[in-house]
Amino acid sequence: MVLRIQSEVVSGVAGEPIRVVPTGAALGATVKGVDLKDLHDAMFARIMQAWHDYSVLLFRDQTVTDQELMAFSRRLGDFDWAPIQETGRRFVEGLPEIFIVSNVKVNGEPIGGLGDGESVWHTDMSYLDVPPKASILYSLEVPVTGGNTSFCTMYGLYEALPARLKDRIAGLKIKHDGTYTSGGYVRQGVTATDDPRTSPGAVHPLACTHPESGHRMLYLGRRRNAYITGLELADSEALLDELWEFASRPDFTWEHVWRVGDLVLWDNRCTMHRRDAFDPHSRRIMHRTQVKGEGRPL
Ligand code: SIN
Repeated sequence: MVLRIQSEVVSGVAGEPIRVVPTGAALGATVKGVDLKDLHDAMFARIMQAWHDYSVLLFRDQTVTDQELMAFSRRLGDFDWAPIQETGRRFVEGLPEIFIVSNVKVNGEPIGGLGDGESVWHTDMSYLDVPPKASILYSLEVPVTGGNTSFCTMYGLYEALPARLKDRIAGLKIKHDGTYTSGGYVRQGVTATDDPRTSPGAVHPLACTHPESGHRMLYLGRRRNAYITGLELADSEALLDELWEFASRPDFTWEHVWRVGDLVLWDNRCTMHRRDAFDPHSRRIMHRTQVKGEGRPL
C-alpha cells in the first residue's frame, strides 16, 4: 500500500494548521485550512506530500478564477493544453489551458465536453506517449444529484493481483486507444474504428513504476479498444477482461459527491476515474487543467 509519512505542522488559512483528512477509502484525502489562491511554499510542499500519499486531494469551498486555477496548476509543472473533443473547441475562450466539462448549451451549442452521460473508467489522455501527470477539476455548477466522480487506485489494483496474473503481465504492453473519449464520442480528426489492433493510440507497459513514489501500479487507461500488443486478439480480450474485473471492485475506489467550489487534484499516473450520468435538465459546469507528464510511463 501507499506509504504515509508523518508530516510537520504547516499553517494554512488564518494561521490554522493545514489538516489532511483521509477519505477512509482506498485513496483520497480532504485538505482543510487552505485557500488555493494564497499558498506559500511550505503549504504547497505539504499539499504535494499529501498528494503523493493519497493520489487524489479534495479542497472544499474554493473560490478561484480561471487565472487563479491556472496559477495553482502551474506550480505543479507545465500545462498540457485542453484536448479538442467531439464537435470542436471546448475550452475557455482565450485560455486553451482550461477545458470545460459541461452539459450546458448556449444557442444550441455545447459549451463543454462529455455531456450528461456516463464517463467510463479512464486515465486522462493515456493515448499520448507522455500523458498528463495531474488533472485539476474545479466545480462551478453541479446537479442536485448525479454526476459523482469516482477514483480508483492503480497501486491497489496491482497489489491485489494474484501472483499468477502479475507474472502473466510482466513485460507485456498495452495500446491505449485514442479513438473514443470516455463519454463514447469519437475524437476530433480520428476515423472511428472498433478494431483494437489498428486503432490509433500509444503503447505503454501494463505494469509501471510511479516515477516519484517508486510503487508498482497497473496501467490500463480505458477498456474500449485496448489491445495487449503481440497477443491474438481473443487472448488480449480475455486477459484485459480478467484485469478489468479487479478495476470495478469498490474496495479500490472512492466516490466524490460534488459541491460548488470543490477542487479535486488527482495523480493521473496512478489513478483512473469515472463519472456518473446525471439529469440532462440540470446544469453541471467544471473547469479542468492538466499538467504535463515528465516522461513516458515505464
Ligand atoms: C473527466 O473525466 O476528466 C471529467 C470527470 C467529471 O466530469 O467529473
